[in-house]
Amino acid sequence: MLEAKLESLAEEARRAVAAAAEAAELEAVRVRYLGRKGELSQISRQMGKLAPEERARIGRLLNTVKRELEELLDERKRRFDEEALRARLESEWVDLTLPAPGPRPGSLHPVTQIQAEIEDLFVSLGFTVLSGPEVETEYNNFDALNIPPEHPARDVQDTFWVEGGNLLRTHTSPVQVRGMERLGPPLRMIAPGRVFRNEEVDASHEHTFYQLEGMMVDRDVSIGHLIYFMKTLLSAIFHRDVTVRLRPGYFPFVEPGFELDIHCLICGGKGCSVCKQSGWLELLPCGLVHPNVLRMSGIDPEEWNGFAFGLGLTRLVMMRYAIDDIRLLQSGDLRFLTQF
Ligand code: DAH
Repeated sequence: MLEAKLESLAEEARRAVAAAAEAAELEAVRVRYLGRKGELSQISRQMGKLAPEERARIGRLLNTVKRELEELLDERKRRFDEEALRARLESEWVDLTLPAPGPRPGSLHPVTQIQAEIEDLFVSLGFTVLSGPEVETEYNNFDALNIPPEHPARDVQDTFWVEGGNLLRTHTSPVQVRGMERLGPPLRMIAPGRVFRNEEVDASHEHTFYQLEGMMVDRDVSIGHLIYFMKTLLSAIFHRDVTVRLRPGYFPFVEPGFELDIHCLICGGKGCSVCKQSGWLELLPCGLVHPNVLRMSGIDPEEWNGFAFGLGLTRLVMMRYAIDDIRLLQSGDLRFLTQF
């Protein structure tokens, strides 16, 4: 009777092992049949009542069944372990033959790029590239450019003053003064650089921006020369025809002075926030160098004259790439910068 019970228990256990769907279920099967309080232990406890010879026979059978179940359980456990390992390897697989991402190559800021292009152009036209200090003397920034202390033109450029009477240059024009003093006539120079104004910052005003100054001093320089160089400059920059207009403009250091405007490339002339709804952008103020300016830098205006211009590099970049907010240029935002 005990023998039959053992046989049916064994059969039940085999089926339970086969049916276990995962390791935890399998462990439950093991506890249920082979555990200390499991089915087989209960049978072995009943064996005490048996006759010695029957006890030996049932004992052997019990051991056989136990061993068989242990093997079945081990075998199945191994299978589960292998499957788990395979699944893990699959999920953690890495292709070591793929190239590593590596450092991202940098690129030049769009203002730097456009500056380099214009420098190349003017160097090919025989101009020297000069740079002046960002902290300037009041004399170079104003007086030597025919802007005396009480002159209203000083009010147009809200100035950051530095202790000791110096200032953050409000334009690149003081480099004209340094150029004339250092090089003497005849001279052709450009001076790109950073300038500063105490501005209320908005989409088209920054406290820090870039200009490129240009100056040519020679004998018999005329407005014709000026227009020739400005046209050469603009067609090199935009690689296409841009609509321009020349208006009289007032700057104390030139006479006559002009505003060279271009049709707004953002809105095509319809009017937008960048061109203040006018459709035009002041891009290139210029003129013939005022005799006082030449004289103050030691050049005889009876013998020499010249032209000068001040290009807004920052604004030029905005036009070229249709950037509608000047603040983006100094945001340091890589999503913006990596486009160039
Ligand atoms: N320095 C002027 C400014 O920043 C721009 C300018 C006007 C420069 C006329 C020039 C010039 O050389 O001829 O507002």
